[in-house]
Amino acid sequence: MDDAHAPLIEDLTRRRGVVLLLGSADTGKTTFARQLLAAAIAAGKTAAFIDADIAESTVGPPTCVGLKWVNDPVDLDNLHQADRLQFVGSIKTSGLVLQHVVATAALVNEARDIVDLVVVDTSGAVSGVTGQTLKYHKTELTRPEVIVAFQRGEEMAPIVGMLRRFFGADVEEVAVAPGIVSASPHEHNASRVKHFEAELTPPLQAWRVRSTVFAPTLPAGLDPARLDAMLVGLQDGEGSTLGLGVLREEGEILRVLTNHGEGMRGLRLGSMRIDLETYAVTPVRLREVMFGL
Ligand SMILES: Nc1ncnc2c1ncn2[C@@H]1O[C@H](COP(=O)(O)OP(=O)(O)OP(=O)(O)O)[C@@H](O)[C@H]1O
Ligand SMILES: [Mg+2]
Repeated sequence: MDDAHAPLIEDLTRRRGVVLLLGSADTGKTTFARQLLAAAIAAGKTAAFIDADIAESTVGPPTCVGLKWVNDPVDLDNLHQADRLQFVGSIKTSGLVLQHVVATAALVNEARDIVDLVVVDTSGAVSGVTGQTLKYHKTELTRPEVIVAFQRGEEMAPIVGMLRRFFGADVEEVAVAPGIVSASPHEHNASRVKHFEAELTPPLQAWRVRSTVFAPTLPAGLDPARLDAMLVGLQDGEGSTLGLGVLREEGEILRVLTNHGEGMRGLRLGSMRIDLETYAVTPVRLREVMFGL
């Protein structure tokens, strides 16, 4: 374990509740989460890891918030296999703050009643109106007992100041480890492609879908061709996401291509199209897709 973080990790394993990890990209949040979870289970605690990073996913595919129960070291080796998913619909929060906050809160609130320690990893968006609004409302709904802020220089000062002023959580500031080398945009992209590929591994099954199964509801008379290549979340009818799918239109018939069709009750429209050859994604505005606005 990184010695600099050892005292904080030891302290956190003795506490109960929710620990929210905040920091910009490549500041060591996920590494810290793994160390904390390993220490918690070694101390005999039950734990959950909630991955609210929708771009650099550790648990489950990108575009979803994922939950993993962590009760055994083996669970830490299989973090990518989510126990629960909540679809957000894009790899970027911009325009989806509501979806992102609610997805995170739904999983945190479920886990809080079940395990001793809930560790919440987050995206690197910590500045600007979207980043600050996201972190404000995530804190408001998940009510963490502790916030760990990874400081590179003074970049976290505004958000830390804001969270200290408005909420009762203990905020622990930790310095980013000097040895960290930031991944290039190319490396981030390659890692995302790998995660999408794992979720949408061919051969995908094609399930015919009716126009009535969508949320939000499709406007009457919508040309199904407009939905071609749109990313969707497959919902189980109990408020949870089973996995991802991609819509395909052929001769006016709409199908969803997926590995998770069993048990699907409805489809949530995402805010991206995805190319199933390259896994390249293009953001779209739902209002534009549906109404041409
Ligand atoms: N204490 C440390 N000392 C040296 N290197 C570290 C340390 N913590 C993390 N790293 C390395 O830095 C890189 C980024 O770490 P990590 O993935 O934990 O950051 P992150 O904040 O979760 O990033 P992202 O925002 O991309 O999810 C990784 O290659 C990791 O191995
Ligand atoms: Mg991370």
